[in-house]
Amino acid sequence: MPAHSIPFLDLVTPHRELKNELTAVFEQVLETGGFVGGPLVAGFEQDFSQFCGTRHCVGVGSGTDAVRFALMAAGVEPGDVVVTVPNTFIATVEAITQAGATPDFVDVDERTYNMDPEQLAMYLQVRCRVDGTTGRVYNKRLGRPVTAVIPVHLYGQPADMDPILDLAERFGLRVVEDACQAHGAEYFSRKESTWKQAGSMGKAAAFSFYPGKNLGACGEGGAVTTNDDGIARKVRMLRDHGQAQKYYHELEGYNGRLDAIQAGILRVKLGHLTAWNEERRGCARRYGELLGSTQPVIKLPYEPSWARVVYHLYVVRVRNRDALQKHLADAGIGTGIHYPVPLHLQKAYANLDYGKGDFPACEGAAADILSLPMYPGLGDEHQVRIAREMLDFVYKETGLGTLSSFSGAR
Ligand SMILES: Cc1ncc(COP(=O)(O)O)c(C=O)c1O
Repeated sequence: MPAHSIPFLDLVTPHRELKNELTAVFEQVLETGGFVGGPLVAGFEQDFSQFCGTRHCVGVGSGTDAVRFALMAAGVEPGDVVVTVPNTFIATVEAITQAGATPDFVDVDERTYNMDPEQLAMYLQVRCRVDGTTGRVYNKRLGRPVTAVIPVHLYGQPADMDPILDLAERFGLRVVEDACQAHGAEYFSRKESTWKQAGSMGKAAAFSFYPGKNLGACGEGGAVTTNDDGIARKVRMLRDHGQAQKYYHELEGYNGRLDAIQAGILRVKLGHLTAWNEERRGCARRYGELLGSTQPVIKLPYEPSWARVVYHLYVVRVRNRDALQKHLADAGIGTGIHYPVPLHLQKAYANLDYGKGDFPACEGAAADILSLPMYPGLGDEHQVRIAREMLDFVYKETGLGTLSSFSGAR
């Protein structure tokens, strides 16, 4: 990358700014020797459950642990089918398989990139049948019961939960939210006429604290949030070798705990999350001002009236995406693609027997999407430079020559 480059993500500056508070956490842990569990973990769990508006938060080792434990604790059993979307990070589906279940997919809404409730309805009505005696829903092709659905709040944008929750209730499915990219995102429930936090709407929800997330640890971390006492209890056991009391194992579990240093760091950073999310929203608005004129050549993110998006990623769509990405890279601007290959087309899931054309909205998005730099502290100067390069690209592509007169400064 050339000098004065703009990184896709800046993980150095925010930690430099919090250096004293973060180092104090290390010192506290070194002095007490409480590396695993203890008051730092319990304190963070309390703060994060309050932030999410849930009765419980259970810290775990990663977001992948969180999805897997949430599914298992919510009652998903080996042999069940769990439905999600193909355009998510692979961990959503790894967790389904590792819980012993079979993943299945429905397509997404083209504007939000999240689960399309109409596709879920069609899936349940057409690809499944309801057993007359038990009332359970069976996938016709797999001959197995469908017991849970995972809406993923992708890019910091909440999925349209009202209709998903309605369908889940009608068909007896548990809803586990994958909120790994959506710390602090909010959804307006038209049904209940109130705003709700991502992570507070399903039976349980999973969060990741991977460093680049809106709330990120200085290492690995995750959490399950839930209002259900039984689920919280079971997740606590699953993360700790199936024990509620030391060396008395009620079930076989995992080593999936959140460590104390990460919990202490997360507690410090949680205090800044609302302001950071506001900054991300401000950056998104600024991109909107700067890039508005490029629509429809470059399609900007869509924020429905019922969503307060926290822009974990700022994803645009453009037909010649690879050329735009190269143009930006040549100008020293980092970008990403989340995700280039939908999961139903990944080699790892060839056994699911899906192919090209099965989920057209997902596949269309995967070919066109590009994630622009998005983080608190990105700064107006950088955004103006990014926009200038994008406008330059659009002008060249559309045969209007180069852009000379653009002035994006406020
Ligand atoms: C949507 C989604 N689900 C699950 C995960 C898994 O989280 P982790 O990497 O902490 O295991 C991630 C993290 O990247 C994610 O983005």
